[in-house]
Amino acid sequence: MCGITGYIGHREAYPIIIQGLQRLEYRGYDSAGVVLFDGQEINLSKTKGKVSDLQAKVKHDISTKGTIGFGHTRWATHGVPNHVNSHPHLSQSGNLVIVHNGIIENYDTLKKELISRGYTFHSDTDTEVLINLIEEIKIQEKCKLGKAVQLALQQVIGAYAILVFDKEKPNELVIARLGSPIAIGVGKDNKEFFIASDATPFIEYTKDAIYLEDGELAIIKLDRDIRIRKINDDTLVEDVKTQELQLSLEQIEKGNYEHFMLKEIHEQPSAIIDTYRGRLLANKGIIRMSGLDDNMERFLNANRIIIVACGTSWHAGLVAEYLFEDIARIPVEVEYGSEFRYRNPIITEKDVVIAISQSGETADTLAAVKLAKSKGAFVFGICNVVGSSIAREVHAGAYTHAGPEIGVASTKAFTTQITLLSLLALKLGKAKGNLSVPNYQTYLQELVQIPNKVEQLLKEDEHIKTIAAIYKSVPNFLYLGRGYNFPVALEGALKLKEISYIHAEGYPAAEMKHGPIALIDENMPVVVIATNKGYYEKVVSNIQEIKSRQGQLIAIVTKGDTTVKKIANHTIEVPETLEAFTPLLTTIPLQLLSYHIAVMRGCNVDQPRNLAKAVTVE
Ligand code: F6R
Repeated sequence: MCGITGYIGHREAYPIIIQGLQRLEYRGYDSAGVVLFDGQEINLSKTKGKVSDLQAKVKHDISTKGTIGFGHTRWATHGVPNHVNSHPHLSQSGNLVIVHNGIIENYDTLKKELISRGYTFHSDTDTEVLINLIEEIKIQEKCKLGKAVQLALQQVIGAYAILVFDKEKPNELVIARLGSPIAIGVGKDNKEFFIASDATPFIEYTKDAIYLEDGELAIIKLDRDIRIRKINDDTLVEDVKTQELQLSLEQIEKGNYEHFMLKEIHEQPSAIIDTYRGRLLANKGIIRMSGLDDNMERFLNANRIIIVACGTSWHAGLVAEYLFEDIARIPVEVEYGSEFRYRNPIITEKDVVIAISQSGETADTLAAVKLAKSKGAFVFGICNVVGSSIAREVHAGAYTHAGPEIGVASTKAFTTQITLLSLLALKLGKAKGNLSVPNYQTYLQELVQIPNKVEQLLKEDEHIKTIAAIYKSVPNFLYLGRGYNFPVALEGALKLKEISYIHAEGYPAAEMKHGPIALIDENMPVVVIATNKGYYEKVVSNIQEIKSRQGQLIAIVTKGDTTVKKIANHTIEVPETLEAFTPLLTTIPLQLLSYHIAVMRGCNVDQPRNLAKAVTVE
């Protein structure tokens, strides 16, 4: 969480930093701050609230002159989101300044030590402790900034991406990372450098990026070069790899859409195609994916697959449990990264672990990956963000290629993850002999129809909007589904609660009578996924049970359905498809329903309260 962006070069830094912060706001928006060096003075301004609040404040606070500076947008961990706890933080002397993304776990011990040496603190943050520790070391060791940062980080337990400036060395920035991402955009002839938590702030300035590895520190010198060292043993990194960015400006802008979330919902047909492009040759009956092809034996000999993920990605993992068990007949367990990593799980070398993460930065999923690796399991990653920490940590993997997802609520990440997981299940099902050739062909032919069917569904938008208008003010919602669509019910409920702040719960439809049915009365809207495959008759019975208790029924049905239509208050039709692919369709109306309800309630859809896109803290 938290976004960092900085600039050192020959242009005015302020507009570059502000624009960068706006692009990173998805990472946190509790507070924002900026610092600039005008050649003489450090000018710093920060505030509780968003980047727009910061812009307003800067006008009264400081001169925006300077060709070196950096900024921060915060998702609060230590200390409430207020002015003093906002970043950047100055050292006691006022000469050093820092922004930080992450958590310093032993900050309290370090703070006590610094207080005993005469330091005073103005904020509740761990970051202010770190900058004073750096200052103290710089004074005691009489060393340069880079060395002081390195020695300080050797004392730190926790996770960080930091950017530090020293007024005495005004042509230099020091950055370091452990567990939180940070990248350097390299300008032409080293005449300028851009620093950011991801590449979006500098995409229009350079396509050359260096991603710092965990445990590395970089000293960036204007008009000179970048030196990268290992924090722990001081070795110089010789083979620094510059990556060419594939990202385009258009991909990170809203275009004609009112919100990123809506844009990303509408991008799903093309995102799904991008996920299977080059991998699925439906007419030839071929699925190819190097990460899987090169490791087929590990998958085929696996005792079981363990899926680790969080949030929406965990829901995609639940869909995969149905896919792998149904199609490939491989036993699957689906685990929250946060639970898995702390419960001493039994993992053997015969296990395959699949980590699913849009951002590739989720701390709990990353820790679960490291744990599984340490126990000898083969770990396969499914990430969207290229070069992300999880993507780099796993033995092999495949990217979803969904393009940047900026809206905090995951939409296209979910459907593209399911698309990729479907490819894995189908390839393994065929290789294991559990899928006949005609059946396999039917699946492949149907998968390439899905983008068109999603496109058709998106045309239901106005109809879904009218339903949203009816229910926009209710306090609670229930979502029910069975089989492949049980995880979709969970995902529908999550989407609604996170962006509209309406309490919503997802349940397997048949579980309703074991408790939640007590909630149903004429005020309770119940969204039921009742497509004509799988457990249709059973779901119809569940729908009757709700109807007889006067619940308000919103049913997702297959086109042409007549039975449920007679019972439900509202129906939304989805095109016919194979049962295994129904989640790719039934999810879409639930995304749109949440979106419209949230907009009608005046909520900030792209930046829901208390949330951030990449959860890099545990
Ligand atoms: C919900 C949402 C979150 C994420 C979760 C995992 O809309 O976005 O629940 O799915 O934080 O994030 P990733 O997939 O980046 O690991």
